Amino acid sequence: MFTKRGEGMKTSDQDLANRIEKEHQELRASIDRLSTLFDAKIDAEGFVGWKLDLLWQLRDFQNQLQKHFDLEEDGGYNADLIRIAPHLASHVSHLEEDHRKIISDLSHILDNIKRIEGERSPMLLRVKDRVASLLTFIREHETEENAIIQEAYYQDYGVGD
Ligand SMILES: [Fe+2]
Ligand SMILES: [Fe+2]
Repeated sequence: MFTKRGEGMKTSDQDLANRIEKEHQELRASIDRLSTLFDAKIDAEGFVGWKLDLLWQLRDFQNQLQKHFDLEEDGGYNADLIRIAPHLASHVSHLEEDHRKIISDLSHILDNIKRIEGERSPMLLRVKDRVASLLTFIREHETEENAIIQEAYYQDYGVGD
């Protein structure tokens, strides 16, 4: 929950902000699950199961992300932010560009995982690196969004003086 709220904030703004924050927590949980899967040691015997598990978890993650981005972009959430804090408009549109990059990187990673043929494939190492940097990028993106929300509401209502 965002704790510092001003009197003038509409209930629908609060509901939406809380929903976004809840989704950020759920995304963090997915990222942790994916990191664990990637850190696991893979042997020849477990390879096929590992690869399938990874493909399915990443596809679910991509869908979870896309729905989260839809909520931010088309659910009135980013529009509210810009209405409350117009000076953040270009920052918000930069965050929307991140969404495009994240979804396209994930599609590319999924294609590459399909091409991994065994636990010793050089492609496996490349994919691990790309996933690690993408997960870091997503974490930073969500942290930036949380900060922008705090800034927007702080600016508007002068809370925390
Ligand atoms: Fe976002
Ligand atoms: Fe987000």
